[in-house]
Amino acid sequence: MESISVGILGLGTVGSGVVKVIENHQDKLFHQIGCPVEIKKALVKEVNKTRDVEVDLSLLTQNPNDVLLDPEIDIVVEVMGSVEETRGYLVQALEQKKHVVTANKDLMAVHGPELLSIAEKNQCDLFYEASVAGGIPILRGLKDGLASDRITKIMGIVNGTTNFILTKMSKEGRSYDDVLSEAQQLGFAEADPTADVGGLDSARKMAILSTLGFSMNIDLDDVQVEGITEVTEEDLQYAEQFGYTMKLIGNAHRQGTKVEVNVEPTLLVNTHPLSSVDDEYNAVYVYGEAVGETMFYGPGAGSLPTATAVVSDMVGVMRNMRLGVNGNSSVIPEFPKQLKGKEE
Ligand code: HSE
Repeated sequence: MESISVGILGLGTVGSGVVKVIENHQDKLFHQIGCPVEIKKALVKEVNKTRDVEVDLSLLTQNPNDVLLDPEIDIVVEVMGSVEETRGYLVQALEQKKHVVTANKDLMAVHGPELLSIAEKNQCDLFYEASVAGGIPILRGLKDGLASDRITKIMGIVNGTTNFILTKMSKEGRSYDDVLSEAQQLGFAEADPTADVGGLDSARKMAILSTLGFSMNIDLDDVQVEGITEVTEEDLQYAEQFGYTMKLIGNAHRQGTKVEVNVEPTLLVNTHPLSSVDDEYNAVYVYGEAVGETMFYGPGAGSLPTATAVVSDMVGVMRNMRLGVNGNSSVIPEFPKQLKGKEE
C-alpha cells in the first residue's frame, strides 16, 4: 500500500486531537503499518472557524458524501457524536466497504450489535476503543487480554466529568456549578452535560463494558442509573470525615447467567483502589475467575487521550488491511443472560 487515506467525520475536541496525533506521530505510524497515513477529507459544520488545530481548508467539507462515497478513502473515523444521523452515516460507510473507527459511546451502546453485524457482513472492521474510558485500552483488555477468563465483576469510574466534579467539590470545597463549568471549558463534559451528571454517559459505557466482559448482550435499558445531581457538599464532607470517598461507580456483576448492572454515587472506603482515582481520570476494576483482581487506570476524557485510542484503532484496521483480514471487532454474545429482578 502506498498510503492509507482517512476521512474524518467531525473536527471538534476529539477530531482535532486525531489530526494532531496523526501528524505528530507519522514516524511511529509508519513504523507500525509501513506506509504514510493521509487525511483526505473532514466533515465539519462550519468551514471558516477558528480551530484547535491547523488544517488545510481544502480538506474540509460540509457534505458527508465527500467522505462516505469517496472511493479513495479506506477508513472513516467518526468523532462527531450524536446517534441517529451518525448511525446512518456509518451504515453507509460500511456498505461502501470502508472500515470504521468510532469514539461514539451513545451510538455503540444503542446500535453497537447492529453496526457490528453490518460490518461483519461487509467484511469491514468496526473498532470503538475510544467509546469507553478515553485513553485506557480497556476494550482491548477485556476482548483480548482477558479473552480466556470468565469475568464476574466490572466496577468502573467511567465518566471524567463527574469524577472531576466530585473530586474538586470534596478536595477543594468548590461548588458544583463552578466545577462543572471548568469541566466544560476543559472539554471533558459533553456539550449538553445532562448525560454526564445524570449518569447516562456512565451507563452507556457500562453497557458496552459488560457486553464485552460478560459476552452477553447488555442493553442500555438493562442498566439502572442514578447520577450525581443530588449529591451535596455536605454529603462529601461527611464521607470524608468517616474515611470514605464518594464516586460515581458503574457496577456490573455476573453470577452464572444472572447479571446486574447499575450506576450510582457510591461511598468507597478510602483503602479501596478506586477511591484514589481523582479528577478526570477513569479506572476500571475487573475481576476474573482465573486472573483475580485487575485494574486499568488512565485519562478518561480529553482531546489527546481519546484521540490516542482512536488512532490506535486505526492502526489495528491498517494492520488488518495489510494482512488482508478483518474482524476482531465483532461482539458475538455467547451466553444467555438473566437480569436480576427482571423476568427474561
Ligand atoms: N463526557 C465524557 C466524560 C467524555 O466526561 O467522561 C468522555 O467520554
